[in-house]
Amino acid sequence: MSLSAFYVTGTDTGIGKTVSSTALLHALRARGRRAVGMKPVASGCELVDGQWRNEDALALQAASDPPPDYATLNPYALPQPLAPEIAAAEAGLTLRLDTLVQAFARLRARADTVVVEGVGGWAAPLDAALDQADLVRALRLPVVMVVGLRLGCVNHARLTAAAIGADGLQCIGWIANHVDPRMARQEENLAVLRRRLPMPCWGRIPWQPQPDPTAAAERLRLPD
Ligand SMILES: Nc1ncnc2c1ncn2[C@@H]1O[C@H](COP(=O)(O)OP(=O)(O)OP(=O)(O)O)[C@@H](O)[C@H]1O
Ligand SMILES: [Mg+2]
Repeated sequence: MSLSAFYVTGTDTGIGKTVSSTALLHALRARGRRAVGMKPVASGCELVDGQWRNEDALALQAASDPPPDYATLNPYALPQPLAPEIAAAEAGLTLRLDTLVQAFARLRARADTVVVEGVGGWAAPLDAALDQADLVRALRLPVVMVVGLRLGCVNHARLTAAAIGADGLQCIGWIANHVDPRMARQEENLAVLRRRLPMPCWGRIPWQPQPDPTAAAERLRLPD
């Protein structure tokens, strides 16, 4: 499988897409690939030297080699920490698909692999007239699903995988992320996910008090 680019979605917001995406960048770089991240749309930013900057985008930039310029990696940095559609409206912006496609093309030209982190869960819209599926279709990307291991995740994982397929897109792998150290029966839940999800598991990221993408990268098994 040529890992030239993929889109990272998850079972929900806050379940480890950024931890997994930065780990994927490190794992790809350990294989000698030029790997760069992208966060097409981010909501929730801080002003840094007069520019809006998002935490996820900065983490992806730090994990990238060669590091892309911020505006290409994160074309839409929406200040408010809200659903993107609402944050875009509050910023007085309409998100443009062609802006995102052009930024992606610039990243793709300079890297062997682009890891694109989505927003929230799969069905979270980017804007009033733009779904994540529209972007993924336009970029022609396969999808990798991060499953945040917590109560309810089997349902969320199966629904997410089904929705990706129903949108005509391909989910090529999933990552188990242990986001909740107190979750009961973690091994049993993992076994259920392995049995029920039709695509291969790319690895399992343990719970870490301070998530470290380099250590997490060692737990990933990417396809050849
Ligand atoms: N394996 C882990 N061990 C410990 N903490 C984790 C782990 N994975 C994620 N976390 C923590 O959970 C929180 C959410 O993780 P992360 O930011 O990667 O999620 P996300 O899906 O990217 O969220 P968003 O929807 O905001 O983009 C962070 O505080 C992160 O440090
Ligand atoms: Mg994130």
